[in-house]
Amino acid sequence: MADLNVELFGLRLDNPLILASGILGTTKGALASCAKAGAGAVTIKSITLEPRKGHKSPTLVEVEDGFLNAVGYSNMGLAEALCEFKNIKDVGVPVFASVVGKDAAEFAKLAAEMSRIKFAAIELPLSCPHTPGLGLLAGHGTPEATYGITKAVKKKTKLPVIVKLSPNVMNLGEVAKAAVKAGADAINMGNSVGPGMKINIEAKKSVLDYKAGGLTGPAIKPITVRCVYDVYEATKGKTPIIGTGGVTYGRDAIELMMAGATAVGVGTAVYYRGIKAFKYINNEIQVFTRKTGVSGLGELIGVAHR
Ligand SMILES: Cc1cc2nc3c(=O)[nH]c(=O)nc-3n(C[C@H](O)[C@H](O)[C@H](O)COP(=O)(O)O)c2cc1C
Repeated sequence: MADLNVELFGLRLDNPLILASGILGTTKGALASCAKAGAGAVTIKSITLEPRKGHKSPTLVEVEDGFLNAVGYSNMGLAEALCEFKNIKDVGVPVFASVVGKDAAEFAKLAAEMSRIKFAAIELPLSCPHTPGLGLLAGHGTPEATYGITKAVKKKTKLPVIVKLSPNVMNLGEVAKAAVKAGADAINMGNSVGPGMKINIEAKKSVLDYKAGGLTGPAIKPITVRCVYDVYEATKGKTPIIGTGGVTYGRDAIELMMAGATAVGVGTAVYYRGIKAFKYINNEIQVFTRKTGVSGLGELIGVAHR
């Protein structure tokens, strides 16, 4: 049996699968269920300073090989999150916080407050494509904004900082380099693609109330592979990458690792395969390593670049 453990900024994970933000990460109990189901680490649903209702329902619809979502960062807000996630060690695997603000000052305040809890890292999504005032729609996808927000957060927390980038930008290498220059400990590549739209042709209108939504799931995997590959090149393989977008089976995780990911995010796969997706994907990785004589996942990371 190959050893599936990987190391991210000095943190050892028993396996490379990380629950992606926004999927089941709204309570400590749900995070613990994912840990029990085989996740190597888990990420909480992104938190804003104040509670948010998000976009109106319907916010999620299945499309060809994926989902469109326009949740719009509905969340409990900082005060309740500080209660919900205290004693986070109970979850049993490392837990990453995720915070989202409208500007660098708000990100820094959220990071400082969340650092009171023993999270293993803080993730900064600069990349949501469908929420006015936040992420891409607030201009957070540029090298300048990425640098400014990351730097401001690094000043306010001692926790490792993960910067979550968008696959939608054309200057991805520059954005990744800006994050690293500002002190990012890891890059999460990445968020949903698009946005896209689905029209109900009987009703003659968009299914999502917000009309457009970010595309996730198998349909976006080739884009994630290319983006991970490009970020690895731009950062010379020196900054760990969490490859997120379209991982459903073990082979998808291995492909992203070969492109340069040290660990992989798992989101939409939970809708397709249930919470046991983590166990299934880990087993499928084991089968591949056994067949190919790989003894540790370090042997796979970035091999497509050699
Ligand atoms: C319903 C839903 C809610 C999401 N909410 C968040 C969020 O709050 N914060 C965030 O950084 N990403 C969020 N995401 C994006 C995921 O974390 C992930 O980047 C994306 O789904 C691609 O991975 P996947 O193809 O494995 O789902 C959300 C995705 C979905 C489907």
